[in-house]
Amino acid sequence: MSQTPPSTATPASSTTSNDANTMESTLQESRMFAPPAKVAEHAHISSIEQYEKMYAESIENPDKFWGEQAANLHWFKKWTRVLEWELPDAKWFVGGKTNLCYNAIDRQIDDGLGDQVAIIFEAEGMIDGKADVTKLTYNDLKREVSKFANVLKSQGVKKGDVVTIYMGMVPQLAIAMLACARIGAPHSIIFGGFSANAIRDRVEDGKSRIVITCDGSWRRGKVVPLKDNVDQALTMTDRVDTVIMYQRTKQGAPVTNGRDKDWDTLMADASDDCPCEELDSEDLAFILYTSGSTGKPKGIMHTVGGYMVYTYLTSKYTFDLHPDANDVYWCTADIGWITGHSYIIYGILPNRVPTVMYEGAPDTPEKDRFWEMIERHKVTKFYTAPTAIRAFMKWGDDYPDKHDLSSLKVIGTVGEPINPEAWIWYNQVIGAENCPIVDTWWQTETAGHMITPMPGATTTTPGSCTRPFFGIDAAVVNSEGEEVETNQGGILVIRKPWPGMLRGIYGDRERFHDTYWSKVPGFYTAGDGARKDENGNFWIMGRIDDVIVVAGHNLGTMEVESALVSHFSVAEAAVVGFPHDVKGTGVAAFVTLKPAHEESDELRKKINAHVAKELGPIAKADKIIFAEALPKTRSGKIMRRLLRDIAAGKEITSDTSTLEDRSIVEKLQAQA
Ligand code: WTA
Repeated sequence: MSQTPPSTATPASSTTSNDANTMESTLQESRMFAPPAKVAEHAHISSIEQYEKMYAESIENPDKFWGEQAANLHWFKKWTRVLEWELPDAKWFVGGKTNLCYNAIDRQIDDGLGDQVAIIFEAEGMIDGKADVTKLTYNDLKREVSKFANVLKSQGVKKGDVVTIYMGMVPQLAIAMLACARIGAPHSIIFGGFSANAIRDRVEDGKSRIVITCDGSWRRGKVVPLKDNVDQALTMTDRVDTVIMYQRTKQGAPVTNGRDKDWDTLMADASDDCPCEELDSEDLAFILYTSGSTGKPKGIMHTVGGYMVYTYLTSKYTFDLHPDANDVYWCTADIGWITGHSYIIYGILPNRVPTVMYEGAPDTPEKDRFWEMIERHKVTKFYTAPTAIRAFMKWGDDYPDKHDLSSLKVIGTVGEPINPEAWIWYNQVIGAENCPIVDTWWQTETAGHMITPMPGATTTTPGSCTRPFFGIDAAVVNSEGEEVETNQGGILVIRKPWPGMLRGIYGDRERFHDTYWSKVPGFYTAGDGARKDENGNFWIMGRIDDVIVVAGHNLGTMEVESALVSHFSVAEAAVVGFPHDVKGTGVAAFVTLKPAHEESDELRKKINAHVAKELGPIAKADKIIFAEALPKTRSGKIMRRLLRDIAAGKEITSDTSTLEDRSIVEKLQAQA
């Protein structure tokens, strides 16, 4: 099989205005790319017929399918039932006892692979012009993780206690999370780009009394002050009595009082013997917060057995991982997001393929850092985000062209829709038209890939995440749950349980129900709009709730609005997304000021700095548009649809007859 050359494309008919947050996608793209022979020949799933047969089996007999897959991993005690399903509650591998850490590390050692490389860590900074690389074998990991697990125990952490982790991308982060998994203490990892407020909120919500952090982390040669942020957060809550700090940058962050402990000092005395806790399949593995349509982030809960099996299997098939074929896998996400949890650590390690962990920025010291790393480590499977790809495109082809990228076999994307231009660039410039692109649609809530090509089997089309993974009964429906017609936009739902599904929102049963299970009776609603084409391929059309996906990160518009109105000058704010060249979607903030405050660029900067402080730099507005008043209906509802058109610089298509004061619109358009 060979890839259909792009010359057969029909670019003239390809319009790509994929209007997020509305259901009016006009995306039409029909170029087709068959899986390249070099991947298909040796792939686990090597033909579409094989995919279809396995898919049918997985849907018709999920117990058999998942039971067989789970049996490839280690269980202290086998389950008695594969699935117990009482909408919306699923229990998987019921009665089974297992451990994520055992399957990530010890299982490899049991099979004589202890000396193989598990993690390839690369620091951002260089030493004498040379890359600073640390390789950890499974034996190394077991020793370090066991020691840190004993450190946690020595600090009073017990099974079931939530441990907050706020660190940079260093091996100690992987060690800390795996140590939690080893003793059955659910972790709650906070992305290092979040602010003190975010730490406070998560510590409070998770009722966590211990925080693991670093003094700082390196980003573009500068120190991100992680410990300072923790210190500031802990002035706002008294829940935490212990902070363990790893000295990464050694730039003098304080270990000030009885609360703070030094990582190295504790590790020096710790025993490296710590057997894995035999956990129930349905014990809580971790909490990970994600933005929702109210101001408060949701603590998504995942449990041990189902999460383990689902991330293991999706990793294996989507990236076509082969431990005996010199595979080197690299996902560029941060471990603070679900992508890093599932596809740097938990799904990859049990597949016995080295996983690369990179500390820093893609443009440090130069804009070819990623390509240089791929060449040097001979990376075969590479996973990144459309936002990054669009930035690489802007930087120009010279950077990747300088490097030998021929080790690459499968290249993937995640986090947001990929526009066809970026897809084609990725295919040509990075993949040399010889690497399948896996555009993976999934969510924090789903644990792993839900709709994705199988690289050796699926014919892909730029912009489509193609077809559901095994066991995933995805459909596009109306609000009654009836499937809509081919190519019609609708609500993306999952109609059957799957092992990686979220088990709830921490401490908020009602919200779990409202958010995911009330919109379409009986089905899981993802919050995305989609259509399904005549080939059975899915096209994601953007969020249908008040979440915007900015550079692949979810932001609740309400969260950003609350941050804005907490600035002393702001009276009222409304936030919408708009199409952005690099980020996919940018943040536009419409702001009305309190009396006696003057509109100015200076004030825009101050407001943005405030948002960055409240939520983190990713939430900063790309545009702040001052308004004397926000456009509202006569009943007082902000007309968001109208604001979206204004922010996008589009003609106003929405009905403005209910608008109270039409002149407001012209004033806003003049600024946007
Ligand atoms: C969006 C990230 C289009 C989507 C793994 C989803 C995507 C949200 C894709 C989840 C994709 C993720 N194509 N949209 N391939 N992948 N999304 O929880 O809106 O950070 O609901 O999980 O990102 O974001 P989350």
